[in-house]
Amino acid sequence: MRTLFKNIKELIQVRENTVSFIAGAEMKKLPTIKNAFLLVENGIISNFGKMADCPTFSVDEIIDATGKMVLPSWCDSHTHIVYSGNREGEFVDRINGLSYEEIANKGGGILNSAKKLQETSEEDLYKQSKVRLEEVIQLGTGAIEIKSGYGLTTEAELKMLRVIKRLKETYSIPIKATFLGAHAVPETYRNNKQAYLQLLVDEVLPVIAEENLADYIDIFCETGYFSVADTEFILDAGKQYGLIPKIHVNQFNAIDGVQVGVNYNALSVDHLEVMRDEDIQILKNTNTMPVALPSCSYFLSIPYTPARKMLDAGLPLALATDYNPGSTPSGNMNFVVATACIKMKMTPEEAINAATINGAYAMGLEKEVGSITVGKQANLILTKPINSYGFIPYSFGNHQIEKIYLNGKSW
Ligand code: NIG
Ligand code: FE
Repeated sequence: MRTLFKNIKELIQVRENTVSFIAGAEMKKLPTIKNAFLLVENGIISNFGKMADCPTFSVDEIIDATGKMVLPSWCDSHTHIVYSGNREGEFVDRINGLSYEEIANKGGGILNSAKKLQETSEEDLYKQSKVRLEEVIQLGTGAIEIKSGYGLTTEAELKMLRVIKRLKETYSIPIKATFLGAHAVPETYRNNKQAYLQLLVDEVLPVIAEENLADYIDIFCETGYFSVADTEFILDAGKQYGLIPKIHVNQFNAIDGVQVGVNYNALSVDHLEVMRDEDIQILKNTNTMPVALPSCSYFLSIPYTPARKMLDAGLPLALATDYNPGSTPSGNMNFVVATACIKMKMTPEEAINAATINGAYAMGLEKEVGSITVGKQANLILTKPINSYGFIPYSFGNHQIEKIYLNGKSW
């Protein structure tokens, strides 16, 4: 099966060679080809270039993209889309003046979602989650990471991970699974956090390994949740089973979690709303990708990750949604890209790099997706007719997507 996209007004994020990630000043450059063609063969990008150089191909399908742009699908490296119900009640509580912390302290928050999820059957959880996955694919996400962490019992954590596995097997976009058993301390272990961590290590991790249920291991390293020592404990255990760390750090407080992430060669450190200069220094010249989640900052009215400071210091940055029922009930990467530009002062080029190639790196998919490169999966966004790619973040709250292609096929 061969599909030719022709007369593309601008083909965006073109990389001749696979790159791991883009950092610092390089992020200001977004390579494109104006008036381009793109050939997809059996779901894989096989050729692209200027329209003037377009060879004559015998193809099965031709898509005339006159006036429209093509870019690689968004790569959302941080989500919690497998959850049950919602937390609309807490949203109203916050409007009426309670803080996220106060809600969590009175049994709301993550524990509220865990209670709902424990009472939900695996089948029902799958059905609720697939609606969200399809929703975000429609919004341009073509690769995604999904975490557990709303189970908080052996049974419920495994239920979440099995749902993620079923989504992986059913949908054609790349999906990575992360074990986040250490998301909050469940009520029954309120005074015995260590016993809960031990349970995760003794009971859950062996089954995860046996059934191949996760790629990564995560923990919420935060005051009132899990300490630096807890983080080291769980990452050590995950390592025994080959799980690579991707951790929640510096959301509300900087408690040296970034240093632990780097020490453990984490693939990413995520949130980073509160960044000390030393945290920025620690990340320099490492393979750990900082990930910002601007929709979370927006929804909770907390600081935005200081992207400008980080990029100007030479760091890379990825952008993701954090789609979850408590802090970010939205999986719209178009909004994330716009908010990064508007609130974090990233340029459209930086934001698009952060939401494509760097997002792919943050979930170990930089060889498969995230750029227009020969050999990569043809997960693509075809835009509506627009004048420039800057219009994508400029038109915040809307999206400029006309059609989604997964493996070169219209979705
Ligand atoms: O990434 N910060 C920790 N976990 C989630 C939110 C959890 C919740 O409120 O349900 C996050 O923001
Ligand atoms: Fe999160």
